[in-house]
Amino acid sequence: MRMKIIVFAIGLFAFGFCAQAEGQKETRRIYENELVRTPPMGWNSWNHFAKEIDEDLIKKIADAMVESGMKDAGYEFLVLDDAWMAPERDENGRLMGDTDRFPSGMKALGEYIHGKGLKFGIYEDRGHSTCQKLPGSLDHETVDMATFAEWGVDYLKLDSCFAENNGRLTTDDYRIYKEAIIAAGRPIVLSMSEFGNGGWAWDGKDIGHLWRTSGDIRPTMGSVYNCAETSAGDSRSHPAFNGLWQFAGPGHWNDPDMLQVGNLPEPIQDRAHFSLWCILAAPLMAGNDLRNMSDATRDILTAPEVIAINQDPRAIQGYKVHVDGDLEIYNKPLHDGATAVLLLNKGTEAADISVTWDSIGLSGKQPVRDLWARKDLGSFKGAFTASDLPQHGTMLIKVGRPGSKLVPVAAPLAPEKYMPPLNGDAYLSDLCYIWKKGGNPPKSDRNSQGDKIVIDGTEYAKGLGCRANIAVMYKVNRRADRFQAIVGFDDAHTGEGGGRFRVLNEDWFGRDVLFDSGKMAPGDPPQTVDIDIRHVDCLYLSFESDKGRRERSDALGNWANACVTSPPR
Ligand code: GAL
Repeated sequence: MRMKIIVFAIGLFAFGFCAQAEGQKETRRIYENELVRTPPMGWNSWNHFAKEIDEDLIKKIADAMVESGMKDAGYEFLVLDDAWMAPERDENGRLMGDTDRFPSGMKALGEYIHGKGLKFGIYEDRGHSTCQKLPGSLDHETVDMATFAEWGVDYLKLDSCFAENNGRLTTDDYRIYKEAIIAAGRPIVLSMSEFGNGGWAWDGKDIGHLWRTSGDIRPTMGSVYNCAETSAGDSRSHPAFNGLWQFAGPGHWNDPDMLQVGNLPEPIQDRAHFSLWCILAAPLMAGNDLRNMSDATRDILTAPEVIAINQDPRAIQGYKVHVDGDLEIYNKPLHDGATAVLLLNKGTEAADISVTWDSIGLSGKQPVRDLWARKDLGSFKGAFTASDLPQHGTMLIKVGRPGSKLVPVAAPLAPEKYMPPLNGDAYLSDLCYIWKKGGNPPKSDRNSQGDKIVIDGTEYAKGLGCRANIAVMYKVNRRADRFQAIVGFDDAHTGEGGGRFRVLNEDWFGRDVLFDSGKMAPGDPPQTVDIDIRHVDCLYLSFESDKGRRERSDALGNWANACVTSPPR
């Protein structure tokens, strides 16, 4: 890569140019100053009832939401997920509720929900059909948002099944809905259900209010912990981010999916799940049968001091401060000068977990309160130990004196660690990717086995070494002009597996392919990538098995010398 000497004047010019390029991006947010300044709380039909919903059930759920104390605890949105609609639109092309199951119509149901002092939420899909093959909103965006506004909808979960056929980038797609909602004139929370394809990376906060970080949650602890890791760990981004906490804030939230509390086999699991969602400032969308919940489930879902952590007005998503195998500690600095700490044992053996005050920004003697037990535990010097926590055991504590100065928040990863400089030159292996999917993240300046990158006898000092299947996204933020690389198999690849290198603009839904090597077999000569990326915000690199995105492969592929560049300005 050509390395530039940047003189002051060029630097200033480049800054001006790039600031303008970046400035062209949208920053107006959807009802930003009014809606979900703390994570949304509500109930959604999918996790317990799936397609089996009707108007009688939903009304009973609305009644139960009030009578059980859920509403008083803060749950306000009652959301009907997939399968509420009729298989066909009406003669004017408008959506209708299924006439057998919702004979009074959706507007009347919305009125019933509002009559209970709750808010009305609904599901749609940005593809031609919903995941359950009912009418999607593609090509009906304006009329559907107007219909929802007319029905009094307050919350829209907008899913992504079949959206890969839309021929639009995810951002362009969701922006159409954002504008249609604004035009419809009713404040509606926009929940973007895009299966964890990078809402934080492509600035979802400028479009909607929450974005999924995960696939679908199931009622098992394995699934609960996996979903939590998409927001709190490095299963979705480079480890340097320490989770996605730096992308959350008032009006824009990471969504590791809805709650399975009450659907898990034991209360201890429900408590671990709920504690995690609260410390992670995740949306609290209950997903159990509220008509028949046990006292234990109700006590967990309505625990006031635990919910207060999720709803804390400082609006910081908690992050890990310590991991030791299956033992984890999270910290969430609060608005009142104290901080919330979660101690969690995911392992099978009972264990003690100790949090030290210096790891959470405190020192000296500090009061500790048990938020599940609602009990002061006394003052502790330097550290606190939760003793003998069994598997899935948690302690959620508040540490510090309300009224003291604010507990400092960890430093977010600085933009220069994950974005190219404003003048655009950078090796990708010197930047942290902002999103990833697949088992083996790329190795920087090494092949996937950790050795030097060698293609066809030529050694490369820089580059990304991959093993199929892997996709990564870099936040280039329209700062660079070109992406260049040499792609080919590493000489250490002795297996049979072939591969395919592709570069896409943004994510795979948009199918905006900027480079495609085609299927390459071992022994094929390397190919040169040199493409214009001036319009690209998120650069998506994938190295797929030649058998497809889901197949495992032994192929060792390299993006040698992968870099983004700009000519001197
Ligand atoms: C999935 C979505 C689920 C649920 C389901 C309905 O795509 O992730 O949360 O909405 O569709 O069909």
